[in-house]
Amino acid sequence: MISNLAGSAKDQYYKIEEWKRGYQSLPHEYEYEILDIEGKIPLELEGTLFRNGPGLLDIAGTPVHHPFDGDGMISSFAFKEGKAYFRNRFVQTEAYVAEQEAGEILYRGVFGTQKPGGWLNNVFDFRLKNIANTNIIYWGDKLLALWEAAEPHSLEPKTLETIGIDYLDGILQPGDSFSAHPWIDPSCELDNGEPCLVNFSIEPGLSSKITVFELNQDGKLLRRHAHSVPGFSFIHDFAITPNYAIFCQNPVSFNPLPFLFGWRGAGECVEFQPHKPTKIILIPRNPDNKEVKIFEVNSGFIFHHANAFETEDKIYLDSIAYATLPQVQPDSNYKEVDFNKLDPGQLWRFTINLQDETVEKELLESRCCEFPTLHPDKVGRDYRYIFIGAAHNDTGRNAPLQGILKLDLQTGKQELHSFAGSGYVSEPIFVPKPNGTKEDEGWILTLVYDGSQHRSDLVILDGENMQGDVVAKLHLKHHIPYGLHGSWTDNVF
Ligand code: CO
Repeated sequence: MISNLAGSAKDQYYKIEEWKRGYQSLPHEYEYEILDIEGKIPLELEGTLFRNGPGLLDIAGTPVHHPFDGDGMISSFAFKEGKAYFRNRFVQTEAYVAEQEAGEILYRGVFGTQKPGGWLNNVFDFRLKNIANTNIIYWGDKLLALWEAAEPHSLEPKTLETIGIDYLDGILQPGDSFSAHPWIDPSCELDNGEPCLVNFSIEPGLSSKITVFELNQDGKLLRRHAHSVPGFSFIHDFAITPNYAIFCQNPVSFNPLPFLFGWRGAGECVEFQPHKPTKIILIPRNPDNKEVKIFEVNSGFIFHHANAFETEDKIYLDSIAYATLPQVQPDSNYKEVDFNKLDPGQLWRFTINLQDETVEKELLESRCCEFPTLHPDKVGRDYRYIFIGAAHNDTGRNAPLQGILKLDLQTGKQELHSFAGSGYVSEPIFVPKPNGTKEDEGWILTLVYDGSQHRSDLVILDGENMQGDVVAKLHLKHHIPYGLHGSWTDNVF
């Protein structure tokens, strides 16, 4: 499986030139039944996988400065009776439509993409390009493309045609934001065990306003409450337990001047302060309880959380942390990354003791990993298994994600399904088997970019037998640029 890695270090299982090609734009929109399949799609696998991520890494040939500035493209994989149908469409955001018509960059991107013409052409342009590229969920009969700094866009779930900016039937106002990391609480204590969607928004400033939203299955607002916390916040994700919404306020400083003067994107003005503590913010989900608690721990930088759960006097929070995070520089090229010089994302458990107000931390996995997932019934609950994108081996350094790792938190057992040397995985999604009873009884769906073929495969793995053969590998006719997040719905679209 791992061969022909001439010229690479002994413990390096990827080829950087192949990896880079996964960042080519996919300007075409497709719609077809996937017929090139290894293995068999399980007949019981019925529903739709939606994925979001930057589909364009350039505007009319001018590269964006960072993939996070790439226009959102939705892919859908609909499964029924052992067959799979693929579709991809760009979210027709106002900026996407305008830039495609103009054939040039008209907006500054948050992560450093600038309009042509130097700083004079960028100075004092504070328009936000809502690129709708981070996540996609189906909730309350709406398919919503999410980007954390602005409103969601809704799409027609069958055709992926963009309907437009969606204010969630008045829950949001123009200019509001809605994070790209909602959780579905499988059994909400405040709603007699009904599932609900929990999400948040951030208004950063000298102090930051965190708003928590909870929506019922019809998309109606159950609860909304806002809290102000001291300091600037860069918060991408959060975690929930039955009683708390949990936020990690990363230690960053923000100097807006280079952005205001048109020298840098706003995201390039955020500077990580590795020696300062992260603040863990606990906000009670019950709006009657207004007691926000803040704890401190030296954690490094956290983008994503795997899960959280609570006991009587403790909160457990499992997160991916980076010891240091380089600042995005105006003169850098994201494709020229030297993985060996970057700290790995590592999985940590933070145990918050509510009695003596201390935080302990424990390294659960040192191998470079990102994009954790779990059985949806275990969100916010004590759980046993994490499935996560991971490097092929544990070198203590950063590396591309080339496999899906299953971690048994009870026994410490690890199982890796690796696609090294030419395979690069995306976020795994766990789909429970119908009538399954065990926590790992499900399929793991992940898009794998095959650098040797310059195309992507949708791979189905068996959660109970990760190291066995793939259940099925569905070869697309093209590649899909490295994406961000996605979700599963039992509805077939
Ligand atoms: Co994310």
